Amino acid sequence: MKKNKNIYIETYGCQMNFSDSEIVASILTENGYDLTTEISRADIIFVNTCSIREHAEERVRKRLQFFKSLRKKSPGLIIGLLGCMADRTKTALMEEEQLLDLVAGPDAYRHLPQLLGQVGSGQKAIDTILSADETYADITPVRYDSNGISSFISIMRGCENYCSYCVVPSTRGQERSRSAMTIVNETRDLSEKGFREVTLLGQNVNSYCWEEDGEKITFTGLLEKVAAVSPLMRIRFATSHPKDMPDELLHTIARFPNLCKSIHLPVQSGSNHMLGLMNRKYTREVYLDRIRAIREIIPGCALSTDIIAGFCDETEADHQETLSLMEAVGYDAAFMFRYSERPQTLAADTLKDNVPDAVKERRLKEIIDLQQKLSLARNLEVVGKTVGVLIEGRSKRSENQFFGRTSTNKVVVFNKGNSLPGEYVNVMVTGATSATLLGQVVDLKE
Ligand code: 5AD
Ligand code: SF4
Repeated sequence: MKKNKNIYIETYGCQMNFSDSEIVASILTENGYDLTTEISRADIIFVNTCSIREHAEERVRKRLQFFKSLRKKSPGLIIGLLGCMADRTKTALMEEEQLLDLVAGPDAYRHLPQLLGQVGSGQKAIDTILSADETYADITPVRYDSNGISSFISIMRGCENYCSYCVVPSTRGQERSRSAMTIVNETRDLSEKGFREVTLLGQNVNSYCWEEDGEKITFTGLLEKVAAVSPLMRIRFATSHPKDMPDELLHTIARFPNLCKSIHLPVQSGSNHMLGLMNRKYTREVYLDRIRAIREIIPGCALSTDIIAGFCDETEADHQETLSLMEAVGYDAAFMFRYSERPQTLAADTLKDNVPDAVKERRLKEIIDLQQKLSLARNLEVVGKTVGVLIEGRSKRSENQFFGRTSTNKVVVFNKGNSLPGEYVNVMVTGATSATLLGQVVDLKE
């Protein structure tokens, strides 16, 4: 019998990209290819790429050089680039540097079998056309790199917010939501397979909107449907835009115990001057009003954010406003970046990347140092309390310990006892660092 070709997929970037790799895996295994987790067994290597910052692209370029060296040793090896770098770098990487045989953008994955066929007949294959309606709604992702407990579901694709620093509208195209029924079915399927946590993904999940049987389903409506699938299934979502965070959504999160009490709300900057140049469509005051609403409607809700240091024209006063906003909110966690100019963005076309690298670096360090303090303070507040934890697996540090997460997305490490991964336990928190809580199991939940 003819042996199927082995595909190895390497993924960079956001959770959305990891979710896309599961869709790619599904399309290819349905079409007679096998997956491998060992690069040495691969006949085809796919790199699913990210363009969000220059550093992300550099990492992929280095990796492609390594794959090219593998191809020298095994001449039949096919190397393909998927995802956000596809359209932007296809000419340089494929034609000039001869690093690639195939390039497919985020909306072209259904065509991968044909594209691979083209490569098989000696041609280079490219498809980077973006679509207005592709959502891969009918494709059941292959959860090939999963712990069997937590997983994710893409609920919408693309973005039309045009934040001036961001490459995503150009790499992923128009915003489009996926059918609510298919999202609910996929959640049910995961629940029946024993999964206990699902993260609903999109570049802007809270602008989700879908019409089904004459009913308009907003993100709030979708959350209600997904939460109702099983009380044992925890629901998270990422990422949200502050402009689409109505009280109605917050009341829904408060009402369902399995909707996690943790909201990721990227602020990017605390300065109205910066927020204007970033085209974020809200002010510091509007953002802080949403934080107030979250605190009022969902007491104990954890908050995390994204922050960019050193955006165009950022002054020391702007930077201080970011620090003061972080203090005012008291974030539990944050992803913090130095600004990296990206081609084909509003900022690259209309603004000057004029904050010197050393200044960006220093401001970023101040932001990170402050966040460490804030994270520690938030975690110390939990010491002495009992929290519900979903066990995810064995702790990296000790065989005798498990780690899991609270509804507020905090990692908790504790002695195993008689519990198992995938179960919920109550843990009494005995200690905390800025990154982790330590505790002891109090009892087993039913
Ligand atoms: N430079 C630095 N950080 C960026 N982000 C997006 N674009 C850039 C950029 N050009 C950050 C934002 C976003 C997160 C996913 O990445 O904070 O929320
Ligand atoms: Fe990177 Fe953004 Fe593309 Fe995700 S959507 S892979 S973060 S560029």
